[in-house]
Amino acid sequence: MPIVTRGEYWFVKKSKLHGRGLFARKDIPKGTLIIEYKGTRMPPEDLPDIDESKPEAHHTVIFTLDNGWLIDANRRGNAAQFANHSCNPNCETIEEAERVYIRSRKKIPKGAEILYDYHLYLEGPFKKEWLEDYVCHCGSRKCRKIMLDRKIPKKYRHLT
Ligand SMILES: C[S@@+](CC[C@H](N)C(=O)[O-])C[C@H]1O[C@@H](n2cnc3c(N)ncnc32)[C@H](O)[C@@H]1O
Ligand SMILES: [Zn+2]
Repeated sequence: MPIVTRGEYWFVKKSKLHGRGLFARKDIPKGTLIIEYKGTRMPPEDLPDIDESKPEAHHTVIFTLDNGWLIDANRRGNAAQFANHSCNPNCETIEEAERVYIRSRKKIPKGAEILYDYHLYLEGPFKKEWLEDYVCHCGSRKCRKIMLDRKIPKKYRHLT
């Protein structure tokens, strides 16, 4: 089934940050549930191993729920999978009655890109490759330079 590309508050178009993005179709008040993050749920142990050799390996459309379960937007996902990451976002995700929504943190003007902080978490010691694999192009003044929820160790900062 093709993915629907517009809803009450949003539409999909090419983004300057990366690929396609979600954009505000009209002014959106603060606190609005803009779109549900849909997909197939699975326990973390069902996550297939990533083939690091593939360029798309780090293109993530998997959302991690508070209880550790995952929502895979590759399977029966909707346009929420097109929302890009920002380190200073105008949206956040919330879980309500076991569903996940992208919600505005502030008033969003018509035409602005809908962005949330992915807060991606990877275990283990920081790997230099992550600087490239998870590089952030959000361009905000507070940009961490990486989409992960961790600081770049001092020894790598000169590379960003
Ligand atoms: C859920 S998708 C977002 C939609 C994506 N733009 C597309 O066209 O499919 C997540 C992927 O988008 C890219 N992405 C999202 N936000 C980004 C950012 N701020 N900087 C660089 N890449 C970003 C990364 O490749 C990330 O793995
Ligand atoms: Zn950033």
